[in-house]
Amino acid sequence: MQTKKIEIDVEVLQYEELTAPDRELIDVAKEATKSSFAPYSRFNVGAAVRLENGVILHGSNQENSAYPSGLCAERVTIFYANAHYPDIAPRTLAIATFAGGDFLSDPITPCGACRQVLIDCEKRYGKDIAVLLFGKKYIYKVKCIRDLMPLAFDEESLV
Ligand code: THU
Repeated sequence: MQTKKIEIDVEVLQYEELTAPDRELIDVAKEATKSSFAPYSRFNVGAAVRLENGVILHGSNQENSAYPSGLCAERVTIFYANAHYPDIAPRTLAIATFAGGDFLSDPITPCGACRQVLIDCEKRYGKDIAVLLFGKKYIYKVKCIRDLMPLAFDEESLV
């Protein structure tokens, strides 16, 4: 038997250590939590994406009384970007969460369904999408969605 080890690099950073563009993206994601519609979970997630051309777009989680019909902030944001700028690659995505009266101390990471959508987006444009996950104590930076989703389904397996 062989064992395959899969390792990823996660940078653990303080806000002050980020580049100015990354700080700006986090600021937009934090601001976007205000447009979250989360009356059921009270978990307000904001996301911001920077496109290849420098444009920044944002979105937030939108819940629904039929719970599974709601959508996470990441997918709202990435689908919005794809709909409005179908020819421009998304390059960096920032996520922040406001819950219980404050931003979370530790970052949250995208759910599996969002990772699946994001990895397809990465393949569609052939460009890495870096991820910035904001927490008050520290920020995670991952260089691409592939790293967040090892052994992902590959559409090339479709026959
Ligand atoms: N949520 C997001 O928007 N992004 C995540 O990465 C995790 C969870 C939303 C879905 C739901 O509206 C609420 O947070 C609680 O799960």
